[in-house]
Amino acid sequence: MNQTKETTGPTVLVTGGCGFVGSNLVARLAAEHPGADLFVIDDFRSSSFANLVEACDRAGVGPFTGTVHGWSTNEIDWEEVIEAISPDAVFHLAAITDTTVMDERIMLEGNVEGFRDLMIATAGREIPLVYASSAATYGTPPQTGARVPFPVDAAGRPNNIYGFSKWLMECEHRRFAREWEQQSGTTPHIVGLRYFNVFGPGEARKGKMASIAYQLAQQMLAGKRPRLFADGSQARDQVHVDDVVSCTIAGSMHGVRPGVYNLGSGQVTSFADVAAAVREGMGLSESEFPVDYFEMPEHIRAFYQDFTQADMTLTQDGLSWSPGVDPIEGLRSYGRWLADSADQPAVASA
Ligand SMILES: NC(=O)c1ccc[n+]([C@@H]2O[C@H](COP(=O)([O-])OP(=O)(O)OC[C@H]3O[C@@H](n4cnc5c(N)ncnc54)[C@H](O)[C@@H]3O)[C@@H](O)[C@H]2O)c1
Repeated sequence: MNQTKETTGPTVLVTGGCGFVGSNLVARLAAEHPGADLFVIDDFRSSSFANLVEACDRAGVGPFTGTVHGWSTNEIDWEEVIEAISPDAVFHLAAITDTTVMDERIMLEGNVEGFRDLMIATAGREIPLVYASSAATYGTPPQTGARVPFPVDAAGRPNNIYGFSKWLMECEHRRFAREWEQQSGTTPHIVGLRYFNVFGPGEARKGKMASIAYQLAQQMLAGKRPRLFADGSQARDQVHVDDVVSCTIAGSMHGVRPGVYNLGSGQVTSFADVAAAVREGMGLSESEFPVDYFEMPEHIRAFYQDFTQADMTLTQDGLSWSPGVDPIEGLRSYGRWLADSADQPAVASA
């Protein structure tokens, strides 16, 4: 991201900016660029303005003073919007994030339509574009059995329509970049980031789609034992939202290598270890809150990602970025934060 205009800060557009990651990103941009002109596009299908208010509070940047358009990214005339806003960078995070949505037409319409037009509008003006893809693009690659990190080229056989929608975005990206290179001899600044399992402050309004760390903490806050599928050895790459925001911003920087990258912690944490770290952070003991294991239903087993771990080698090479938050430490501090903030009023939302 390089400021091009004579304002006191960059002009930045964040789609999905009222969601969990998006609101944390907007607040960070406000903190790092106090004079920034911040634009958010969000149709609020899984979020609320309240995320933005709370994220700005947490970041200590004062009230949000930017612009919010309640539009759906798949229905926008991107040429017109990009021309009008003239951003220095675009972060495209808007997506249907409910992985249990089974209506394939709705998922593809919401997540993929309009993406090519956004790439055309930004590339034509040399505006960096960073978009959120997902570890769901991997499905169950061979690395799962061996329990080794997923290299970027192992993706493409997603287990659900959500993962497929993200895969299609990446395919559009690759196709567009190839065409653009053939026509102009230059590579468009487009970076796709496959977020792994993101956790951290600001995800409460995701409901059943919030992280396992959040779900377990809520159970314990309600006085119940944390519940996990037996035997708790299922493991994921758990990445703190602060790292996700840092890497997403890094993707917009001048000099990075455009392409698709993994964005995880690079480490693997079993669900049993997630429960232990969150419980510890909340100041609770194992004897009071032992894990209550139950059998995974058969219909879930077939599509379940039993193991994910990001191979972060290319991310380090192409974006000069590597994770800063150790997942266990991050989970402990998140548990602490959830326990501390449980009694404080949140901003009321719909
Ligand atoms: N949180 C994770 O663990 C995770 C993992 C992998 C990928 N991602 C990706 O990261 C991005 C942010 O996810 P999140 O966790 O913050 O979820 P979220 O649901 O909180 O945020 C998504 C935001 O996009 C908005 N939105 C959805 N469809 C839209 C559309 N067509 N037009 C405009 N706005 C729309 C929603 O209202 C919401 O504010 C998404 O693209 C998601 O697929 C997240």
